[in-house]
Amino acid sequence: MIRRSRRLGIAALLAAPLTLTACAAPIPTDAEWHPRTPESVSELAAAGEDIGFASIDPAELDGVTQHRTVSTDLGVDLRWPEVAGADGLNEAVEQHQWALIEQRESASGVAYAPQAQEAGAGLGPDARGCAPGATTASVEELRETATEADLVSTCEIVAAGGGMLGIRWRTLEGEDERLETSYYDALTGAEYGVADLLDLDDAAMDTLWHEAVQAMRVDAGALTLWPTGEPAVLDNAAREQFGAALAAGVLEPDGSLVLDVPGGFDSPELEALPGREDAAHHDRIRFAPDAIAPFLNDSGRSALELLGEDSPWQPPQSDVLGAHADCDLVACLALTYDDGPNPEMAGLLDSLAEHGAVATFFFIGSSVSGNADIVQRTQDEGHEVANHSWSHPDLTTLKPKEIREQIDRTQDAIAAITGVAPTLVRPPYGAFDDAVVGACDQPLVLWDVDTLDWEDPPVEELTADAVGTPEAGSIVLMHSIHDGSIEAAPGIVDGLHDRGFELVTVSGMFDGAVPGVVYSGR
Ligand code: NI
Repeated sequence: MIRRSRRLGIAALLAAPLTLTACAAPIPTDAEWHPRTPESVSELAAAGEDIGFASIDPAELDGVTQHRTVSTDLGVDLRWPEVAGADGLNEAVEQHQWALIEQRESASGVAYAPQAQEAGAGLGPDARGCAPGATTASVEELRETATEADLVSTCEIVAAGGGMLGIRWRTLEGEDERLETSYYDALTGAEYGVADLLDLDDAAMDTLWHEAVQAMRVDAGALTLWPTGEPAVLDNAAREQFGAALAAGVLEPDGSLVLDVPGGFDSPELEALPGREDAAHHDRIRFAPDAIAPFLNDSGRSALELLGEDSPWQPPQSDVLGAHADCDLVACLALTYDDGPNPEMAGLLDSLAEHGAVATFFFIGSSVSGNADIVQRTQDEGHEVANHSWSHPDLTTLKPKEIREQIDRTQDAIAAITGVAPTLVRPPYGAFDDAVVGACDQPLVLWDVDTLDWEDPPVEELTADAVGTPEAGSIVLMHSIHDGSIEAAPGIVDGLHDRGFELVTVSGMFDGAVPGVVYSGR
């Protein structure tokens, strides 16, 4: 409402020029001069009042998943988004996290490794990734939603259109605060800072600075929009300050540019204006599209086209359950369920889907054809379907030819339904020897956390154990044929998420290629 009334005030002033010319500068005769309209006037407001920028809830964007990693060893708490299928963008966004981590590593001498936090850490899906208001909330508010980490990095999605995503990054480190906005081409991964979208030589910077001064004069009650003179020539310190403010600015789809006025911003024209001192470093300015248009370069123009109203958000690929996770960066965990397929698994698959989790299922070949629907559904919902032998014998008691038969029959039975042969084998009872290793072409996948769910512990006990025991990179053993394991699944997934884990398939944990021979964790 403040903004509207200000506009009316300006319009009223423009409508009555004759009464004001007596106290304003003489009208220039320069043919270049075009009277300004209210729409072309840049605006100024105290932060948090009426000048904002678009803030998009990632939950409303197709294909966007959210990440967070907390390392108490390194003192970092980082959040970022991921776009399904946008490899270039994801790489660039992850690079942003690695840059923070590496800078921290070299300052501390501590090497980074993904860590999960204690049970009840509060790191579940709702507490991950970019959040509306994350870059404008007060430092106190932000610290409240973060861990005790010294370095806290969060983000806000400020633009999403076509295949382009604008992310405003905010980093707190001790007393320091840094803000920077990047626009990412989802397809190519090309990253543009605000300064990359504008051609800003020194003269252009001076012009924008002057524009900000004009907006401040109007904001402080100046009776004329008339420029007070030639643009000031900025000194190097001011230019650097203004450059930092530009880097943290937001280019809006309408072509306006919103930025926080640098602290200590001052200019001789402002000296005589009342009330400037208090407001000086709290102000945010919206540069009108007219003020920005002359400085847009080709990248800036195409970014605006991509972000414009006619260009709805369109990720390269629609969301797929089990989106990729970089297990060097986040705390991964693989839930594994043995001894299916069985009809009761439907409830387990429901729970996993509801809670946004994927798992790896080691199926017994002889059960596969009688449960074809479940096998297909398991595959369709992003889980990994793997091989647990044909009839569940102790493979170490068999001859090599028999071992191969146990594995190959199961491969064929699964492939006959899903069209895809498994790439992983789990030997029954975890029993293997050199002969078993030699007979299997696939890596043997064991576990490092055994929930002993077959002993039918109370569900609360099973849940607490499965949630509390794993570490980053763990492979957790459970069985889809035990009611307790199916009943416990929602609590287990929520509890693991809350500790900061990202649940992945076993192949996902190794980025699609399980290396070597025998695995019991990463
Ligand atoms: Ni088994």
